[in-house]
Amino acid sequence: METFVSVAKVGDIPPGKAQQFKVGKTLISLWNLNGTLYAINDICTHEEEYLSEGEMVDGCCVECPAHGAIFDLATGAVKALPATEPVQTYPVRIEGDDIQVAV
Ligand code: FES
Repeated sequence: METFVSVAKVGDIPPGKAQQFKVGKTLISLWNLNGTLYAINDICTHEEEYLSEGEMVDGCCVECPAHGAIFDLATGAVKALPATEPVQTYPVRIEGDDIQVAV
């Protein structure tokens, strides 16, 4: 069974922004895409840059700041090279004022 942990408060991450969190030993980034929250592993699968330092692009995705790989925030799928492996995605839920993620 998934264990959700609180990582932020509702409203902490404005639309169009992302923030990095450490959950256990895992670095994740939490993204607000037009009010919908997505959690992904924050380490690019190409050369381990922080994706949370990248930009949202195409209304769906994050572009890695290092070499421009693009990942779908909802599925983690690679949309543009040079990355070839998807990033892990994690379930997100709102509990009261808390944003919770299951890693
Ligand atoms: S480290 Fe992300 S594209 Fe190279």
